[in-house]
Amino acid sequence: MSDQQLSGDVYYPSKEVIKHANAKCDDLYQFASENYEGFWEKEAKNLHWFKKWNKVLDDSNKPFYKWFVGGKTNIAYNCLDVHVETPRRNKLALIWEGENGEFRSFSYFSLRRETCKFANVLKSLGVVKGDRVTLYMGRIPELMIGMLACARIGAIHSVVYGGFSVESLHERLEDSQSKVLIVADGSYQRGKVVQLKKIADEALQRAATVESVLVVKRTGEPVNMEAGRDMWYHELMSLPIANNSCNIEVMDAEDPLFMLYTSGTTGKPKAILHTHGGYMVGVYTTLKYVFDIHEEDRYWCAADPGWITGHSYIVYGPLLNGATSFMYEGAPTHPYPNRWWQMIEKYGINILYTAPTAIRGLMRYGEAWPNRHDLSSLRILGSVGEPINPEAWKWYHRVIGKEKCPIMDTWWQTETGMFMITPMPCLPLKPGSGTKPFPGLKMDIVDENGESVKPNEEGYLVIKNPWPAMVRTIYNDPDRYVNQYWSRFPGVYMTGDSARRDVDGYYWVIGRVDDVIKVSGYRLGTAEIESALVSHPAVAEAAAIGLPHDIKGNAIYTYVILKSGFTKSDSLVEELIMHVGHEVGPIAKPESVEIVDSLPKTRSGKIMRRVLKAKALGLDPGNISTLEE
Ligand code: WT7
Repeated sequence: MSDQQLSGDVYYPSKEVIKHANAKCDDLYQFASENYEGFWEKEAKNLHWFKKWNKVLDDSNKPFYKWFVGGKTNIAYNCLDVHVETPRRNKLALIWEGENGEFRSFSYFSLRRETCKFANVLKSLGVVKGDRVTLYMGRIPELMIGMLACARIGAIHSVVYGGFSVESLHERLEDSQSKVLIVADGSYQRGKVVQLKKIADEALQRAATVESVLVVKRTGEPVNMEAGRDMWYHELMSLPIANNSCNIEVMDAEDPLFMLYTSGTTGKPKAILHTHGGYMVGVYTTLKYVFDIHEEDRYWCAADPGWITGHSYIVYGPLLNGATSFMYEGAPTHPYPNRWWQMIEKYGINILYTAPTAIRGLMRYGEAWPNRHDLSSLRILGSVGEPINPEAWKWYHRVIGKEKCPIMDTWWQTETGMFMITPMPCLPLKPGSGTKPFPGLKMDIVDENGESVKPNEEGYLVIKNPWPAMVRTIYNDPDRYVNQYWSRFPGVYMTGDSARRDVDGYYWVIGRVDDVIKVSGYRLGTAEIESALVSHPAVAEAAAIGLPHDIKGNAIYTYVILKSGFTKSDSLVEELIMHVGHEVGPIAKPESVEIVDSLPKTRSGKIMRRVLKAKALGLDPGNISTLEE
């Protein structure tokens, strides 16, 4: 594979990289394509099962696929207990640095202890298998402990990204019917404190199911504690109920592990449901091969645990592999643009996995910042969240990776749970391409009729066979699951992205073809931004679109029609921007709010965002035959 001649701008892996790699490309692609279920079964055997499965894949009720049917396991047991029985017991599982320079670390032994203690606290609050628990905090170890504690007792965790705000949190608490909320008093972001507990208090006024709120002290700023509902995490953890040992709940392979809300084409964010068995096998395997995890590595995924990247590749994937993971609380440029490079040197990080928006943001400050630090520990780099432009790829490769670290540009989604289109260190790379589907996966690019397109033609990116870490359903809404993903081309999973494939079979993802906007790699729906705008008393109607942005990839532009009695003013525009920030979160704040008299609509009343977009970019709006006026 490595000596094959490819077209275009190609970076071939070095002999050292190939020799070191867990992934032997030729073998893996061949084995997985000849014996797909056998490939996954072999990987599953590396993990612990209380009872072995009877069947690897059950496809009798498509698209509700089941994996490792009849198998009994628990992902938290595989993340912690399994290692505590080996010499990894005292190996660091987590190294953490706060934005304010604080430092904490956990061995596998101590991470298991904290998890058990907290699992006992949850139990004492009446949390049982199948209950939902929402977590809302910044990048701090308690988030990992909370997730693992839920998994240990079979509760379903729902992590809400700490950058979301009141309405987003409320919606997620309500839809999941969470019994418990675990929240931090606040979090540090660029030297400022975000008052998470205060946001939660407001969201809780709108949400009824939460019985207990556990508050993790991070900033120490004063918070409101409601008697009978709110309790301090550290106080509960020092009570005798927070015992060091906690029985593990034996889970069926298909029992739910977590739900994670993500934006779709229409309406409210939907809860993507993942399981203990298949998800575990998928993330364990992909991380091992793609980021080439070795015993001595220090691995850093700089994403947020509040997104799927953090679930799969900060929490579960690294722990399943017995790796040492690094977590940093704050912003890459705080207090100076060398913060990341300084920590790579300080902790001897070997693997760095981040997003194109972060790379572009850091690139802006020039090479001198990284060049002041010894980055020679780095061996592999990664990118995720949106297409990486070749210029940023090359900068990352040259300035950060010193031309010796291959870049794993991984394409995947909340729904896929694991890497889908991804290089492995043994594969030649092309800047801007995620290379090929992971071994065994059947992906394709199709036209309107579901027919494969020719090389270099753009089409819909689809997945044609099931994979272990796949979404099982949308929580409480199986019909929406089928409609959203499996009905455009029956039997085929629709990703929502467009892509092309070159003559070498390399995939080039172009972007979303639905109403999802990727802002700095974060996934937002036009519907969420529009409904936040419409919830303001001055707004009658609103439309949101994404337009290209140098650093963020896309930025949000909005158009609103005011209700009668309200007049256009700069202060109203500012108020509307703040309102979106307050309801959805700072990441959703529009770049601009343009007040208009009408919006382009179809005869059936749907806003034609495509027309707004074309107009904003000065392009031809294309077919507007369905336009009303
Ligand atoms: C969407 C999924 C999966 C982790 C973070 C995002 C875009 C993701 C890439 C990539 C081009 C990418 C796609 C996808 N995307 N990775 N390497 N190259 N585009 O998860 O929030 O569910 O978003 O992110 O558009 O559909 P997510």
